[in-house]
Amino acid sequence: VSRAVVVVAAGSGTRLGIGDAKAFVPVAGEPMLTRAVRTVLTLAEPTVVVVVAPAARLDECRVLVAAVAGPAVDLTAVVPGGADRHASVQAGLDALPDGIEWVGVHDAARCLTPAAQFDAVFTRARETGDGVVPALPVTDTVKRVEGDVVVETVDRSALVGVQTPQVFPLARLRDAYAVAERSETDDAGVYRGAGGTVRTVPGDADAFKITTRWDLARAEALVADRAG
Ligand code: C5P
Repeated sequence: VSRAVVVVAAGSGTRLGIGDAKAFVPVAGEPMLTRAVRTVLTLAEPTVVVVVAPAARLDECRVLVAAVAGPAVDLTAVVPGGADRHASVQAGLDALPDGIEWVGVHDAARCLTPAAQFDAVFTRARETGDGVVPALPVTDTVKRVEGDVVVETVDRSALVGVQTPQVFPLARLRDAYAVAERSETDDAGVYRGAGGTVRTVPGDADAFKITTRWDLARAEALVADRAG
């Protein structure tokens, strides 16, 4: 097995207002983290999955992952996360087995990301040798502000919103994390900060991140839609 996905699931979910680890929150009866893990394990190419979970809920996470993985449990691992996303990603990278060449970093909170998005990102990364992220055009008009005063309209034709999984050559991502600025908010930022090239492939609206209660309602509607 030469590729892996690190599912970061150690966030607190403060903005969801559920006082719980967000990735354990059920979407239509099933926790976000098991939804995310299942998608990776259904990919045609065998893929290692490392789940980065809150330290206090490791055992619970292991039970959930084992149940969703079934006989593929040997492809999975669950490790404790850190104080911020940066530390959690590093913990996941540290836990990867030998032989992994390509790694995707995926937010558990993007638990309805279609399998095709994983395939597209890994395929493009292998084709180019670069980092690859799914991206969607920005649809709102975007303004630069100073305080509450609008200063200018930003040309949105040159802007995209990026999703996960973000895929990189593992050795180079590890090197990038070793020297990264803490202020980078995603893996592409870390990778580029260390001089790497990051390309985009088209993202999918279904790969949105569940952050608020409204997002959770949208996710439940989407699951109902897929079932029907
Ligand atoms: O908070 P936010 O939604 O931006 O977090 C993005 C992802 O990073 C989530 O899947 C969350 O679980 C993860 N995360 C983490 N460890 C942290 C903070 C966030 O794994 N300490």
